[in-house]
Amino acid sequence: MSTTNSNAEPFVLVIFGATGDLAKRKLFPALYSLDRTGLLPKKFAVIGVGRSQKQESEFREDLKNSIDTYARIPLSDPQTWETFAKRFSYVALDVNNASAYNILLDAVETNEREYAIPGNRMFYLALAPSLFGNVSSHLKTAGLTESKGWKRLVIEKPFGHDLASARELNEQIEQSFREDEVYRIDHYLGKEMVQNIEVIRFANSMFEPLWNNRYIDNIQITASETVGVEERASYYETSGALRDMVQNHMLQMVMMVCMEPPSRLKTEAIRDEKVKVLRALRRYSEEEVNDYFVRGQYATGTIKGKNEPAYRDEPGVSPNSMTETFVAAKLHVDNFRWAGVPIYIRTGKRMPKKTTEIVIQFKDLPKNLYFNKDNNLGPNLLIIRINPTEGIYLLLNAKRQGTDDKIVPVAMEFCNNCSHESPEAYESLLYDAITGDSTFFTRWDEVSIAWKFVDPVRRIWDKNTKSIPMYAAGTWGPEQADWLLKQDKKKWWPLGREQESEMVIHAVEQPNIR
Ligand code: BG6
Repeated sequence: MSTTNSNAEPFVLVIFGATGDLAKRKLFPALYSLDRTGLLPKKFAVIGVGRSQKQESEFREDLKNSIDTYARIPLSDPQTWETFAKRFSYVALDVNNASAYNILLDAVETNEREYAIPGNRMFYLALAPSLFGNVSSHLKTAGLTESKGWKRLVIEKPFGHDLASARELNEQIEQSFREDEVYRIDHYLGKEMVQNIEVIRFANSMFEPLWNNRYIDNIQITASETVGVEERASYYETSGALRDMVQNHMLQMVMMVCMEPPSRLKTEAIRDEKVKVLRALRRYSEEEVNDYFVRGQYATGTIKGKNEPAYRDEPGVSPNSMTETFVAAKLHVDNFRWAGVPIYIRTGKRMPKKTTEIVIQFKDLPKNLYFNKDNNLGPNLLIIRINPTEGIYLLLNAKRQGTDDKIVPVAMEFCNNCSHESPEAYESLLYDAITGDSTFFTRWDEVSIAWKFVDPVRRIWDKNTKSIPMYAAGTWGPEQADWLLKQDKKKWWPLGREQESEMVIHAVEQPNIR
């Protein structure tokens, strides 16, 4: 995403699901920020599509409220606001009714004439996934995909619920859009620090030579949330953390950490390297799943002093639900660079804190020089902080000031968002889609291999309907998740500010006495 000037051509954006949560919380605020930072072209129009009837004025009022509540940039003066808001119009449509799409075609063409837009059309499906296939077909039948300019389809996750359904959906979409016109969103790829992994790795001579199984002991990737299932039980009950987080966000982070340097900084070269990681990812048979994967579901517990209900007591959740709200796994990328390095991943809801972090643990040096009873040398850790703090944190061993050989952990830290707020992931992704850069969107082969990897896990968990390990809300998952590492004589590293308190505090707080 450029931050200097816009490379975007004039376009019409049609947002399906314009009255929904995603549009309200993410898409409208992102468009507004892009406009305010000069990244939208002068000529653009946005058509919101929703099921309910709405006056244009009512729709613009909703738009204003959503921006006022969720945008990172405050609402502008009334005149600037009017100029922005008048680009937005609304069409009420039953998306399942093919013949109703004529109204939409009419609205798109009207906007194109009014703003002299040369037929560039982007369709954003912020809809229930079951509608993706039909909407893309109806767009074609109604002639919306035929224009002089470019056409693009942006689709939210989940793309299918297993390999078979994803294939079916892809085949349906292919009837209306070419693969290079399909932008499959994984919003983790829009996060500043996920995009930065590539640069940190390949632009620093101090990391790249060490980035392999000779120097790295293990990798730990955690995405934890404090929220529970919220209002999404009907979706989450059929998805669980495996489909909701592992198949997409977690594997995307694995790819970014493990990929080889691309031959060029070009979209397909980068995506080719990412997909090679998935190809090398060891697939587990149904018999092996329990040795490498742990699932869990939250029970009642306390987070920051507040009592939280069990998952099974949440609105819309079955009282006997076997849906996992936590997954931990040990992965192996079986290629020359990574053979023998375990990659532990874990993700869960109702955990003690909201954090996304990647910990790279380097191998120990031979402990003959400084290792003694006073110096329990820790390994070097490189921590890539993705959320909420963005940055990198490097843990080293150094001599304590004023002593001869007392070694203590010290930290070097770079914070990416401490002095300036980073753009939201959706800003970055919307801008990329508008400018035709699909680097940080998922290609079909990535999606299909990711499903091939998680499908056996899903099958085996769906077969076991008797019990699921429980964890109290506010804890780091069931104890089996710790065992996954303990059996390899390793442990999960603390996250976020705990790193400072648990790992380096004694380096700064103890008096310097010789
Ligand atoms: C979404 C999942 O894709 O990612 C949600 O559907 C999850 O269940 C969310 O809460 C987490 O995203 P982030 O950006 O808050 O880490």
